Amino acid sequence: MCGIVGYIGRRQAAPILLAGLKKLEYRGYDSAGVAVRGEGGIRVEKTEGRLARLVEKTEGGASLSGTVGIGHTRWATHGAPSEENAHPHLSDGERVTVVHNGILENFRELKQKLTAEGYVFHSETDSEVIADLIDYYLKKSGDPVTAICRFMQRARGSYALGVLFSDRPDEVFVARKDSPMILGVGKGEMFVASDVPALLGETRTVYYIDNLEAAVIRREGAVFYNIDGNVIEKQSVEVTMDASAAEKDGWEHFMIKEVHEQPRAVADTLSRYMKEGRADFSEAGIGEEEFSAERIVITACGSAYHVGVTLQYVIESLARVPVRVELASEMRYRDLVYGENCLVIAISQSGETADTLAALREAKAHGVRTVAIVNVQGSSVSREADRTIFTVAGPEIAVATTKAYSAQLAAGYLFALELARRKGTVSEEAYAGYIKELLSLPEKIKRVLERKEAIGSFAARHQTMRDVFMIGRGVDYSVCLEGSLKLKEISYVHTEAYAAGELKHGTISLIEEGTVVVGLLLQPRVREKTASNLEEVRSRGAHVVAMVFEGEKAEGAAEVWEIPKTEELFAASVAVVPLQLLAYYVSLQRGLDVDKPRNLAKSVTVE
Ligand code: G6P
Repeated sequence: MCGIVGYIGRRQAAPILLAGLKKLEYRGYDSAGVAVRGEGGIRVEKTEGRLARLVEKTEGGASLSGTVGIGHTRWATHGAPSEENAHPHLSDGERVTVVHNGILENFRELKQKLTAEGYVFHSETDSEVIADLIDYYLKKSGDPVTAICRFMQRARGSYALGVLFSDRPDEVFVARKDSPMILGVGKGEMFVASDVPALLGETRTVYYIDNLEAAVIRREGAVFYNIDGNVIEKQSVEVTMDASAAEKDGWEHFMIKEVHEQPRAVADTLSRYMKEGRADFSEAGIGEEEFSAERIVITACGSAYHVGVTLQYVIESLARVPVRVELASEMRYRDLVYGENCLVIAISQSGETADTLAALREAKAHGVRTVAIVNVQGSSVSREADRTIFTVAGPEIAVATTKAYSAQLAAGYLFALELARRKGTVSEEAYAGYIKELLSLPEKIKRVLERKEAIGSFAARHQTMRDVFMIGRGVDYSVCLEGSLKLKEISYVHTEAYAAGELKHGTISLIEEGTVVVGLLLQPRVREKTASNLEEVRSRGAHVVAMVFEGEKAEGAAEVWEIPKTEELFAASVAVVPLQLLAYYVSLQRGLDVDKPRNLAKSVTVE
């Protein structure tokens, strides 16, 4: 997490750095800081809390004069979110100024070594150790690139670094391992950022810095180095992403804007991987080798993991291929048995989630074929997977994911269908029916959105609810996982998703008079079973909300939420929308920061 920016050019750096940080605030918002090189040397300004405070403190950047600088917005790992721990960090003696995204794992050992060398530390962060270590190697070698390469050789963990040296007024230095970093090319100016949208206002020509690479950036361009300090050649890339997609466009929050973008995200993702009415992954280079898999492991974190849980039901049911779903943070350290002819699918919006990347690498180290489902072009997961399916959700800014989740489902359904077709487990007729159903999803999502006021009114009536249970079976259960996470992360309501049949094995003791229980009744085969479970909680005082397909009844429920009839295997795509809206409206009613919930960050580049 954390976002970093850099600039070198002829314009004033501070306003450009602040504008870049604004776009990166989703990566962390505990504190912010900039360092700008002016006539009198490097000046650092930092504040605890949101970026807005730094903007105020620096009068929108006007109080910092200079055309070279670096900046940072923080998601605290080592050390409290205080001003003291905010970046940039200076080395003892102030020769090296650093912004850092990532975690230096061996910082304790290095700190000890540097303390023995006489270095004094002023913060609790691992990042300050980086500034001092680079300074230490600079003293030894006299050369900044060598000092940075020595640092890279010595560091364990992850980093995207922006570095200023006090005696190099016209250069910005960067280095990267496992945290994202992009360089933007302008006319007589260069930019650094943690992601592409932060650069789009300025340029579309970018360089992706790869793992264990460094660069020296000057106004006219950059020179790239590998970890041994040898110069390497790199090609710039033109990005085609729509800049306005990362703006609020009059919506009150990014989240509600992105919720409304779901019909388009689903339609665009489907159309990218369909040709003449059939699934077609040839553009992604996915063919016989992947579709001949005899078992599948899906790995991901957070909402992307929930997509994996849904796809497990869908793939097994359609293609009869065994699927297991693994939390990436678990998979990376367990001794997984992949077996013969296994395919690993890693799902990630950002393509930078540290655990997902590590799980992917783990699979590759076992010689297993990998496919990624990723939203961000050029991201680490997409570059390291053997093949990548890109979701077409566009930039997602709100910390709570919505449209990327929906686009991942759409891509996964198509994958499942193509797998089923090749395995011969669906008839031509059934295949055509499923495709038709998929193509109708955007319209059905739209219809749910048209009725959002009903959910808004429920949220207003129940804004003080303390505990919420969401229950369902099969695909319905997988949607509950996502709905429950949404409500937790942005509304701070304690919720639990439960497989409906499991509630009675302990958790039912938590049901009290008025406890809200949302039950999903969208799987015809088990509908009656879940309805009985709802009856069990209702008779113990629960306020039961039932989600059903239009025209269906839910006896005994205090409230019924209807959604358009959908093929049951694809129900998650429609059913998730009321739950996203519920989380949004409860958060709004409670006056919370919808787009930037406390303690969270969007791109989790730490373990
Ligand atoms: C964070 C986000 C979640 C997201 C998860 C995985 O926790 O807040 O919304 O689902 O990371 O992110 P990824 O980018 O890998 O999909």
